[in-house]
Amino acid sequence: VLVRGGRVVGRGWHRAYGGPHAEVSALRSAGPRARGATAYVSLEPCSTTGKTGPCTEALARAGVVRVVWAMDDWNPPNARRAASLLSRGGVAVDGNVLPEAGERAVRALRRGGPRRRPWTIAKWAMSLDGRISPARGQGGRLSGPQALRWLHDLRGRVEAVAVGVGTVLSDDPRLTCRRPGGPPHGRPQPLRVVFDSRLRTPPSAACLRSASEDAPVLLVHARVAGVRRLRLERPGVEFLEAGDRRRVDLAAALARLWDRGVRRLLVEGGGEVLGALAGAGLVDQVFCVATPLLLGGKGAPTPLADTGVDSLAEATRLSPLAVRRLGADVLLQAYATGVTGDARS
Ligand SMILES: NC(=O)c1ccc[n+]([C@@H]2O[C@H](COP(=O)([O-])OP(=O)(O)OC[C@H]3O[C@@H](n4cnc5c(N)ncnc54)[C@H](OP(=O)(O)O)[C@@H]3O)[C@@H](O)[C@H]2O)c1
Repeated sequence: VLVRGGRVVGRGWHRAYGGPHAEVSALRSAGPRARGATAYVSLEPCSTTGKTGPCTEALARAGVVRVVWAMDDWNPPNARRAASLLSRGGVAVDGNVLPEAGERAVRALRRGGPRRRPWTIAKWAMSLDGRISPARGQGGRLSGPQALRWLHDLRGRVEAVAVGVGTVLSDDPRLTCRRPGGPPHGRPQPLRVVFDSRLRTPPSAACLRSASEDAPVLLVHARVAGVRRLRLERPGVEFLEAGDRRRVDLAAALARLWDRGVRRLLVEGGGEVLGALAGAGLVDQVFCVATPLLLGGKGAPTPLADTGVDSLAEATRLSPLAVRRLGADVLLQAYATGVTGDARS
């Protein structure tokens, strides 16, 4: 935000990979009111030319008199570089004032860059006895209306939402963000992704029926005969081959999603895909909605199917659980340990 005389005169955020940074977007929204303003940003402004020009120059050119940021740039050559450039240009700086909050705001970018994969969020809803659907028959929604509102809000805050083809076949989800007014801050709808090795998604699937060039669906598959693709081809349906074996190579698929600009990937199940991701160490954050329901049933699916874990020592350790009520349900949240995060966020 840009603030002048105690009033916010401009707001901005980094909407999309390769697009203008938050600073430039805020300067555009403020126009001439940026002159004499203070800029408050989460991350130290960039001072080099990458996909866009240096924000330090844009801020100084617009007449911003002070810049405050929560967290220094973590890249050693760039850390505090903006501080010295701005000060030399006569702009006051207050850097690294809230490093923990800054880390929370930028962790998808920070963690993803070196690993070249999106921050991966595993989400499921389960009965109190730990089942994600009945053993036989149709799936269906387990959690209540508040949890549903929370989910649509979350979908609006990520670049992509994914499920396995098993979930498409049983639940037929649309996977769109249906929050009143659409995704927050004018963000685009998330890219919808289906992990579907042999392209079993039916052409009549709800997600495909609502696909368009503006709201595409990406079918991630293994090596398949072209004819299987042909029956699914239509505007808004895209294909990505990841892995030449029987099954989609999830790590390779995530790397390709990162290259496409996906920084946060929300994986909403089912158990097979989530189990495979967790088993490969590809889960960063977990959201579990526990709902007051007893399902039971021998063979009823659980949140994670095969992870390949045979002993406690091999289990994925999580940070202490953060708890929030969502109506009759409880939302549990944690990070995979080794991943910096704040359980309160
Ligand atoms: N309560 C909840 O939160 C929730 C959420 C979602 C689903 N569900 C329930 O979960 C059930 C469906 O779960 P599911 O486990 O069968 O489906 P799933 O995880 O959605 O899909 C499984 C399929 O994904 C495909 N896949 C592609 N690449 C994979 C990989 N590398 N590893 C593993 N699978 C891969 C596999 O089919 P191919 O080999 O053909 O590609 C696999 O059979 C339904 O009963 C549904 O209602 C519940």
